[in-house]
Amino acid sequence: QVAAASGHTVVLVDQSDEILKKSTKGIEESLKRVTKKKFADKPEAGAEFIKKTLKNLTTSTDAASVVHSTDLVIEAIVENLEVKNELFKTLDKFAPDHTIFASNTSSLQITQMANATTRQDRFGGLHFFNPVPMMKLVEVIKTPMTSQKTFESLVDFSKAVGKSPVSCKDTPGFIVNRLLVPYMMEAVRLFERGDASKEDIDVAMKLGAGYPMGPFELLDYVGLDTSKYIIDGWHSLEPNNPLFAPSPLLNKLVEEKKLGKKTGEGFYKYK
Ligand code: 3HC
Repeated sequence: QVAAASGHTVVLVDQSDEILKKSTKGIEESLKRVTKKKFADKPEAGAEFIKKTLKNLTTSTDAASVVHSTDLVIEAIVENLEVKNELFKTLDKFAPDHTIFASNTSSLQITQMANATTRQDRFGGLHFFNPVPMMKLVEVIKTPMTSQKTFESLVDFSKAVGKSPVSCKDTPGFIVNRLLVPYMMEAVRLFERGDASKEDIDVAMKLGAGYPMGPFELLDYVGLDTSKYIIDGWHSLEPNNPLFAPSPLLNKLVEEKKLGKKTGEGFYKYK
């Protein structure tokens, strides 16, 4: 959405037409929200902006067949290294030499993905934040093999889509998640110990620390499955680090398929 809105030609690839339809509808809804604000007094210009953006966006279920004409691939699939590597390996065979590959992973090592391809120097991380149309940050991740030219292209692209890039080494969680995820897990542990209600913890962090959402609201917003993936991955890397300890409550909710806002229930219920 943000790439198409800033004039880039985008092919959105997913597994089925049904998912793509849902994603396109989500983009249209989000564009309406953005347009309402951006073109508050100019509805015609707003309608033109939506039309132009959607014109830049096509969809496909066949990544291999569309990658031959791309300059940049941004992968944002399931947080599973094997699945990601399988995809990158396939795309590597069909993409032109100059094409840069980037992963939007929240917590996996970019280096391990780059190593699944033959273009380690043209591989980096581009980590966006939910909701992407609103959040200004992009973390640009440089592995020891990422070339300076690739890194600069990723920084330039981030700026071209209207974001503020920061750079970080290929370290677990990069900057934001390395700080945010342990904080959210501490909130869950505070609640698990019965020290405070989740509602009070959320109010406390909003009114006492100025956060736009409390940790439980944010966990539901990000997705409990995503949060569990992140913490489980780090726990396996550093089993003795108490900041990365898994939470029985989080595990139980994920097992019950209560994944947060997207499934209608997580820590809270949604209509
Ligand atoms: N698309 C377009 N616009 C959107 C949007 C979307 N998906 N979601 C919200 N907005 C817009 C609304 O239209 C609204 O615009 P307005 O000011 O003109 O009315 C504005 O954002 C504010 O929205 P709301 O009034 O509905 O609600 P809030 O004021 O609470 O703002 C929020 C919503 C921007 C999501 C804010 O609560 C927030 O910043 N929350 C924290 C989000 C955060 O921490 N994200 C990072 C998560 S971590 C992550 O993503 C990393 C990953 O790897 C796990």
